[in-house]
Amino acid sequence: MPCRICGQSTRTVLDLGEMPPANGLKEAKEDPDVVHPLVLENCESCKNIQLRDCLDAAQLYRHYLYLTPESPTLSKHYEDLTAHLYREGYVSADSRVLEIGSNVGHFLKYLQPGVKKVMGIDPAENVCRIAEDHGVETLPEFFGLDAVEPVRERLGDPSIIVARHCCAHNENPHSILEGVAALLPDDGYFVMENAYVLDTLKQTDFGQIYHEHMFYFAIQPVMRLFEAHDLKLIDVVMSPIHGGSIVFIASPNRSADQERPSVAHYLGEETKALDRALIEGFAEHVRTIARDLTQQVNGLVDEGASIWAYGATAKAATLLNYVGITDQLVPYCADSTPIKHGKFIPMANVEIRPEQEAFAAKPDYFLITAWNYKDELIAKAKHFAGPECRFIIPVPEVRII
Ligand code: TYD
Repeated sequence: MPCRICGQSTRTVLDLGEMPPANGLKEAKEDPDVVHPLVLENCESCKNIQLRDCLDAAQLYRHYLYLTPESPTLSKHYEDLTAHLYREGYVSADSRVLEIGSNVGHFLKYLQPGVKKVMGIDPAENVCRIAEDHGVETLPEFFGLDAVEPVRERLGDPSIIVARHCCAHNENPHSILEGVAALLPDDGYFVMENAYVLDTLKQTDFGQIYHEHMFYFAIQPVMRLFEAHDLKLIDVVMSPIHGGSIVFIASPNRSADQERPSVAHYLGEETKALDRALIEGFAEHVRTIARDLTQQVNGLVDEGASIWAYGATAKAATLLNYVGITDQLVPYCADSTPIKHGKFIPMANVEIRPEQEAFAAKPDYFLITAWNYKDELIAKAKHFAGPECRFIIPVPEVRII
């Protein structure tokens, strides 16, 4: 496949095989599994890493089960990011803020009290209704050129557009950037947050790989993407959220004094680190984790131990299905999201149950399948299920604690 950022040819990095859409939870165990190839490829020209095969966005996002969870880790991230946006002058009391892929509106809630107006746009109608109930006006649409006028009518000209963890979720991020370029005034800002590929690779965080994540962004290809729409990267912020994320801040204003030192700093680090050896080492580590985890889990179950997964995440689907762990070994997965309860992780057929039920069941081990919230989950389980609980941490290497 050609690179969907720069058009050059790509090479395969890792083939995870035929996998179900990771957020496509099943209503019943017997429901058939629909699978699609999950293959990661790399463009050596612009350094982009992308999925070879992309699913239709409408199929993935119109009715979306992922609701941003209530979490102290996320709240802290929103506070830090909001503070940065104010400190650097990207946001002020006069700002009109648009968030693309705003989900239930948690992040906009942080900005809402201090700015003129906020508005979200998200393709999932079920999620938009929840955001509206929270007091965040949200347009139930995909964002792109077609959304420019409807947004202008309701919000006015946005002075800042935020897109957190959604631009890599689209086969053609150019279509989002076209809309951003059309809406933003010259002194406006575009803030794009995504998992950072350097963290994903260094931490062997292969749970990031699933059909919704069509790109694994690095600074170099994102600069190419922005340049194609006359946007200049002016600031970069790193965050530990979701296993290591990067916030890109861009502006149509191309004057040199806009650029913060962070751009040269992180670009320099990335250029040194992001090479073929790192990418091939990552693929090898993934295979090692798969081997170790199957061995450990099978061994524990053979000894009579009970294991629940904890965190019905998309990464759980990638991990369990690539490694080959099914309900035969791990029958249940604890999760705090009520709409997931009673549903099944696709293909692995692990049933999702409320956290309190898991704590009452007191399994011998929790396999932490939301390792981005590892510390929170371990603390919670120890508090509610007892200090003797043990945990299997699959990434960056298999550990039992
Ligand atoms: P998320 O981080 O969005 O992972 P992914 O993007 O891979 O789907 O999902 C976190 C999941 O973890 C979500 O389903 C809610 C669950 N969760 C709990 O069950 N308990 C908790 O205390 C927290 C913070 C999350």
